[in-house]
Amino acid sequence: MTYKNDYLMDTYDFLDLTLVKGEGCYLYDSNGNKYLDFTSGIGVSSLGYGDKKLCKDLNAQISKLIHSSNIFKNETLLEVSKLLVEISEMSKVFFSNSGAESNEGAIKLARKYSFLNYGYGRNKVLSLKQSFHGRTMLTLRATGQEKFHKYFFPFPEGFDYVERNNIEDFKNKVDDSVCAILLESIQGEGGVNPLTEEFVTFISNYCEEKDILMIFDEVQTGIGRTGKLFGFQYFNVRPDIITLAKGLGAGLPIGAVLCNEKLSNVFQKGDHGSTFGGNILSLTGAKVVLERMKEDDFLPSVVEKGEVLYEALKNFYSELVIGVRGRGLMIGVEVKMPAKIVQQKALEKGLLVLTAGENVIRLLPPLVISKEEILKGVNILKKSIIEIGG
Ligand SMILES: Cc1ncc(COP(=O)(O)O)c(C=O)c1O
Repeated sequence: MTYKNDYLMDTYDFLDLTLVKGEGCYLYDSNGNKYLDFTSGIGVSSLGYGDKKLCKDLNAQISKLIHSSNIFKNETLLEVSKLLVEISEMSKVFFSNSGAESNEGAIKLARKYSFLNYGYGRNKVLSLKQSFHGRTMLTLRATGQEKFHKYFFPFPEGFDYVERNNIEDFKNKVDDSVCAILLESIQGEGGVNPLTEEFVTFISNYCEEKDILMIFDEVQTGIGRTGKLFGFQYFNVRPDIITLAKGLGAGLPIGAVLCNEKLSNVFQKGDHGSTFGGNILSLTGAKVVLERMKEDDFLPSVVEKGEVLYEALKNFYSELVIGVRGRGLMIGVEVKMPAKIVQQKALEKGLLVLTAGENVIRLLPPLVISKEEILKGVNILKKSIIEIGG
């Protein structure tokens, strides 16, 4: 079937699949076919589909009030702010609608802090090569991949890119003009590439000494995806700013910028804002997610299931697979064949997976997936790889 598209801008490379319903960790297409989901809507639907509490609370909120705007007080906003600030051990939060917006807000916050404390000329943001931080002009610029720096000139200034896990390169790039460094603890879109402890610790110590702000982009790795609330918690560091989106709303569009005490009064009235940011419906979703994260066994179960996923894949057929990496339920399988072809083959066999670059299959199943479902999915994935490569 060709997907007839006369009206939509041609920005997405759609798979030939129309999803109409979800249940648990399964999705159904318009022909009634059932698929095991290892995508979570690109790391979004972490509670799977049809979570009872989520549906109940959202339905109740829809009938009461969907949106009221930020000119009025909003109890849900205060409640979720408290919940998120406490669970993250940060100081304050600003709510946006997406990952790019969260990073945009974080960079504004860092630059204002630096200006207030050091004046003009200290506004450069370092990020990493192969990173991904969003699609706005500022976050495209922050993204350390050349392919995103075409066509849309002029881009905002004040960025430079450090090679992942290369301390020498960091030392070469950092100077008195740098106000912040932006890091993903595991690069998601860039190929599921984890940072090393040595690299992160060095940067953290350096930044602390020079009052350079450390921003962790936890848009993909955050909210339980890696088995801890945030991916950076695998290192012994404390960021100044954390950005969130994706899994925070379990499908509702929401993003957040969290800051520590040092930055808590930098944004003043009028410095930042958003019509939809902090809207009641998305916050209702976030509240359900955050309460779930606080349950004693939730995050440990993600760690356990992550191990099941990793173990099931790690020694798989080295002639076809280069390596398996990641943490928790964020795993990349680098294959010796085009990842897109594997994705298509798996789809035909009833498993939905993501890709990250040319050769990496990215697995981001809902965090509520069972071990049996993980093994079932891995089986399909292995068969798909073997059929293509073997
Ligand atoms: C680490 C990271 N940051 C930012 C973004 C951008 O998020 P959004 O698409 O919600 O703007 C993404 C999206 O994939 C991401 O993975």
